[in-house]
Formats: sequence, C-alpha cells, structure tokens
Amino acid sequence: MAPKKAQVGVVGLGVMGKNISLNLADHGYHTAVYNRTPHVTDEFLDYCRQYEPAWQFVTGFHDLESFIQGIEKPRRILLLIKAGQPTDLTIESLLAFLDPGDVIVDCGNAYWLDTIRRERELRQRNIDFIGSGVSGGETGARFGPSLMAGGTLEAWQKIESIWMSIAAKVDPVTGEPIEGAEPGKPITWGEPCAARVGENGAGHYVKMVHNGIEYIDMQLIAECYWLLKHLLKLPENEIGQLFASWNQGELASYLIEITADILQQPDPHGEGFLVEKILDVAGQKGTGKWTAISALDLGVPANSLAEAVFARYMSGLKQERLQANKIFPDTHTELPSNKSIFQEQIKTTLYNAKICAYAQGFQLLRQAQEAFGWHFDFATLAKIWRGGCIIRARFLKKIASAYEADPELANLLLDPYFSAVIQSGHTAWRQVTASAVLNGQPIPALSSALAYFDGYRSATLPANLIQAQRDYFGAHTYERIDQSRGRHYHLDWSGDRQERQVVE
Ligand code: 6PG
Repeated sequence: MAPKKAQVGVVGLGVMGKNISLNLADHGYHTAVYNRTPHVTDEFLDYCRQYEPAWQFVTGFHDLESFIQGIEKPRRILLLIKAGQPTDLTIESLLAFLDPGDVIVDCGNAYWLDTIRRERELRQRNIDFIGSGVSGGETGARFGPSLMAGGTLEAWQKIESIWMSIAAKVDPVTGEPIEGAEPGKPITWGEPCAARVGENGAGHYVKMVHNGIEYIDMQLIAECYWLLKHLLKLPENEIGQLFASWNQGELASYLIEITADILQQPDPHGEGFLVEKILDVAGQKGTGKWTAISALDLGVPANSLAEAVFARYMSGLKQERLQANKIFPDTHTELPSNKSIFQEQIKTTLYNAKICAYAQGFQLLRQAQEAFGWHFDFATLAKIWRGGCIIRARFLKKIASAYEADPELANLLLDPYFSAVIQSGHTAWRQVTASAVLNGQPIPALSSALAYFDGYRSATLPANLIQAQRDYFGAHTYERIDQSRGRHYHLDWSGDRQERQVVE
C-alpha cells in the first residue's frame, strides 16, 4: 500500500521527467509527478498502470499545491523542464507552497551562472537548491544516468541516497558499466556514477563540459568515418564493422558503439544506408557553444571544443557549400595506398585526438574551479563518466588513474600513460592529417587536436613575433627572454629604435 506522502516529486513529464520518475519508482521511491498540462500526467499514469511493474510507486497530481502537499518533508523536488526562463517561472510558482528546508533539484541543462544565481536567491529564502547535470538521454534517465550535482553539502545530503540509487553503476573490479536493467529490475550493485562535484553551479558546469567533450568526440568520430569513406572508399556497413571492432579495445565507448550500429543501418525506404540519406546539417541546443565561450573567457586553449561547434555551423551553410563546391570541386591528389595500414592509422589518430579532447575539457575544468571557487576531484569526475553518460568510455578508467596518481596533474598529456600513447601514435596522426589535407577533406577536430598537442609540447612558439607586432603598432610592450619575467620593454620603432624599460 502506498504511503500517505511521496518521498520525492518530479515536475515535468517530458522524456527525461517520465524516465527519471520510472527509475525512481523501480528503486522503490514513492514518486509524486506533476506536469503543467494535466492530460500528460494522466497519459503517463495510464501508461504506468499498463506497462510498468512499479506503477504503484507513481502518484500523479493536477495542481501544484496538492502535488507539493503530497510530498514528505523536507521535500525533494526534481525539475525536469526546459532550461532558462521556464525554470525560473516554475521555481517561482513552487515557492508559494514550499517550506524552509525543502530542496529543489534542477536536472536540466541549465547555464551554470543561472544556477549560481538561483542557489543564492533560494538560500536567502531558506530553500536548498541543487543544480545537477543528468546525462545519458532517455535510456540513461530510465535505467541509470550519470549524475553531477552542485550545491551545499547540507542540500546534497538530502538527495544523496536517491542519486546513488538511480545512477548508472560500474563494476568495481572492471570499471565497466553494469548493463541489463529492465523495467522493475534496476541495477542495485556497483559503484554509482553520481557525485556532488562542488558548490552551486559546479554540477551544471561539469555537465556543460561533458557536453563540450561530447561535441568533440562526435566530430572526431564523424571525421574518421569521412576519411574511411572518401579516402579508402569503404561502404558504410564496412566502416560500421570496423568501428565495432575498435569498440573491443581502448576506443570502447558508447559513441563508438552507436556509430557502429548507425553505419550498418540500411535505408528503410530504399537502396543503401540510412546515414547516407540523412541531411548533412547538424543541429545543436547550445551547451557546446557555452563550453567554447567559457574556454575563451577563461583563457583556455580548447581549440577543438570551438572547432567542434564551428563544424556544426559550417554544416549549416549547406546552400553556400553547394555553390562553393561548383567553383572548387573535390580533388583527390593521392589516396592512401595501403588500406589496412591506413585503417590502423585512423584508429590510432582517433585515440590520440580523443585524449587531446579530454585534455582540453579537463584543462577547462581546472581553470573554471579557480574562477568560480570550486575544488574538483578530477578522478571522481572521470569515474562518474564511466557509466550512464553519452561520453562513457573505457579509457576514462585511465583518466581516473592519472588523477588518482597526481590530483594536481596540470594536463593529461603530462601523465605517463597518455604521454606514452601519444609518443607512439603521433606519427600516424600526422600522416592521416596530411593525407586528409592533401585530398581536400575537412578534419577540423582531428587537425585542431593535433595543433593543440603540438602547441602544448612546444617549448617555444612564434608569440615573440606577435609581441613585437603589438609593440610596433600599439606600444603594448614585450618581455625579454634574457631578463626576468615582469619587466616590460618598448622599442621606439618609428623613432630612434632604442629600447626602454617601461615601468607602470
Ligand atoms: C546527455 C546529452 C544531452 C543532449 C545534448 C545534445 O548528456 O545526455 O548531452 O544533454 O543530448 O544536449 O546536445 P545538442 O543538441 O546540442 O547536440
């Protein structure tokens, strides 16, 4: 028999809200659900009664007041609604009925500065607020997402047990995600992919960087597919099989797994493969762009993050690309001669570039924690991304180990394992990049990751000339390599060409 009050409430019955509610119910949480449009609630309850073993754990409400009165105190209310203004409006309407000590958990892809503001405003009204990243899409929400929470310790303690229950789990021995959950049969063992990653907006920031890495990873995979198709002339299903074989090794990841499956899907409406018939214009909801903007704001050279976003914008210029292609048709100078060597080189390239993608993401997180006063445990971040989320990948174990060995590691490229991988792989990466460039194939993510690696490993860069140019036209001064840092000089370029130290 259902208790008088629910243990948790869910506002918003879109795809994510429904699936989180079912996940909660499967784990034995009595869940109150509310949707602004009542018939959505009714339809969901009908569905639950018909198909869900844990249907008795879900109770629906048509008005906000009875929904809130139906939840035990301190109330735990999860918001699964559109980020932005709808979140503010919903919080405002909830406030009329909440009591001090209740906690609101925003599970959307919120902008982290909004989360910082909301947390501050609600704290003043004695309401706790957690901004939690939830990754894994529909299936993740249903059977175990990766959960990245940000908020005070006190607020976290109110939801910790729920977050640990409903999160994806990884096998503590192998570090691999535990699969096989079904309706009514959730996974109840293993290490949960959930953590409190920091205060206020930290959870949403971490989720945003997760999405930024997701953008790069997707773009890298897409570029490898493209090279296999255009330089080796492999058909989609063969590329799919190749990806499936890569998924058995160090590249094993959710994105490689789904790519292998996607590429082998025939077009249900005709000859060939579905992917060939999908319009080459990529959409986006904005989290990748936020990540790239944040990298620019914080001075982090996350070039592949930006390139992955730009690549989607470039895809959007479909009409112009068609026009330009008439003027600059495809040219193939020299296709790779040895198919199996080139395939192996692309595999190596993908792994190397992927390491640089994560290096950029973690470098951004490192900078962000300074800027926003957080203290990330990078090993924990890598661990909670091992299961449930879109970027889950076998090699996250290696990232966790790198940060466990050195929590202050400045960059993944400095870790012994990752540096050894790139030492042995970068020649292949250069060959693939050169081949793509010579054959006119755009590979912004693969090549920008290589530029990142080469920039990062360069003891000297031509920034000396930039400084001289800046000094030439704007008297912006420069430092000298033969003097201590912090001493600034200006040369009178248009006058006597004498150098003087500038004291500010
Ligand atoms: C996740 C995804 C999820 C969503 C992205 C898609 O972690 O579950 O990242 O948040 O699929 O927002 O983003 P784009 O529409 O911008 O590609």
